[in-house]
Amino acid sequence: MKLDKNFLWGGSIAAHQLEGAYNEDEKGLSVMDTVTGGTYETPRTITTEIQPDVFYPSHEGIDFYHRYKEDIALFAGMGFKALRISIDWTRIYPNGDDEKPNEKGIAFYHSLLDELIKHDIEPIVTLFHFELPVGILKKYNSWLNRETIDLYLRFVETVVSEYKGKVKRWVTFNEMNHLDPTTDVSALFTYMLAGVEYSKIKNKEQDLAVIGYNMTLASVKAVKLIHDLDIESQVGCVFGLTPSYPKSCKPEDVMLSFKDTIRDFYQIDAMTYGKFPKYKLHEYERMGVHLEVSKEDEQAFKEGIIDFIGLNYYMSQVSCATVADDEQASLFGGIVNPYLEKSDWGWTVDPKGLRYLLNFMYRKYQKPIIICENGLGAVDEVGEDGIVHDDYRIDYLNKHLTQLKKAVVEDGVECFGYLMWGPIDLVSATTGEMKKRYGFIYVDKHDDGTGDLSRTPKDSYYWYKKTIAENGENL
Ligand code: BG6
Repeated sequence: MKLDKNFLWGGSIAAHQLEGAYNEDEKGLSVMDTVTGGTYETPRTITTEIQPDVFYPSHEGIDFYHRYKEDIALFAGMGFKALRISIDWTRIYPNGDDEKPNEKGIAFYHSLLDELIKHDIEPIVTLFHFELPVGILKKYNSWLNRETIDLYLRFVETVVSEYKGKVKRWVTFNEMNHLDPTTDVSALFTYMLAGVEYSKIKNKEQDLAVIGYNMTLASVKAVKLIHDLDIESQVGCVFGLTPSYPKSCKPEDVMLSFKDTIRDFYQIDAMTYGKFPKYKLHEYERMGVHLEVSKEDEQAFKEGIIDFIGLNYYMSQVSCATVADDEQASLFGGIVNPYLEKSDWGWTVDPKGLRYLLNFMYRKYQKPIIICENGLGAVDEVGEDGIVHDDYRIDYLNKHLTQLKKAVVEDGVECFGYLMWGPIDLVSATTGEMKKRYGFIYVDKHDDGTGDLSRTPKDSYYWYKKTIAENGENL
């Protein structure tokens, strides 16, 4: 058995990480426009306003806003079948609650979509990839307020009515699952995802539960809305998942690994089984968190079942009931697996974890799955010949794709596409760096502000092109 001839090979990008032009053509401020640059060692700072003489990586990005035609031609040169983009809410509704949509923002995405279609690249559109308008944060208190759900639905309605016919597959949210108060990146993710300043939350458990609930409800309502607007549409939601292995066969470790792995699954359960899970309400009750599921909400959960699941996979982690002092914490909880290699940013490299996760998800939900993000953030050196020889990236992708193919061919998982994260170098979400590069295409831009923004294919560009041309036969 081979991969299906319609397998969607491609890549995945997000507006705030590459478009730049943050205040052009009447775009409003989004939360990520107010987050400074950082590094692996120094966290990004949330300023909520634009401060003078501070560096904000999203403001220029890689200037995709003005160079998308050149970039899309390069993606087409690799034979991309699909590109996942996000539509920045603040280009369409600059403050989130404006009376009318911004025509210039609408025109930009028409042109971007037309360019993709011209090259036979299917656009897969994410409607929320950390691009909440600052206006909604200031006036409505973000996702803590149910009015934000209505504003989001209005944005979705505008966008889907406008681009219907050009877009078939929609994604309601990117990684709404990262709202856990116990991990190292909680503060950044709570702001990126939900537009809420972590340090200012008085009752973390209650508020994060409400945000998670409101976003889940917004997603199911958006699914119904999109289906109603376009009967041909396919709607999914994307989750960033990190499987957790038990450190030992001690029952305590095994139980913890199960809980860590499925920690964020309540939202997927709600979106696939058509009801907000009782076990989550029970958990909340025990924590003293109060959540009301109204009759109207119950109906919304029933009507908003997703058509496919999008998965972002970067690493696995280890669960250990008793953590020793010298054990290194993993990004989303648990500890780092000592049997695995790590990237320059300390993310474990675990290709088999992808096969494990694909099987786990497919057996649990039996829904089509698309890998919406996977890739290696690395320090790239330009060789004397002016080219980045990134054999380490080829090795990473080759190993992950081999495991994906096994999941499909040997295990029967219905996975219909692979969208590599960051096919062109762009701004890192967690650190704000350019130095953390994922791309097949090198962008001459550096964290000190130097670089002429020129684009040059790396060795991996030609490897991916061949892999696509052979539909993965070489894996
Ligand atoms: C995912 C996000 O969680 O991870 C992307 O959806 C992000 O936006 C990607 O860029 C990789 O993370 P980072 O921090 O290396 O850019």
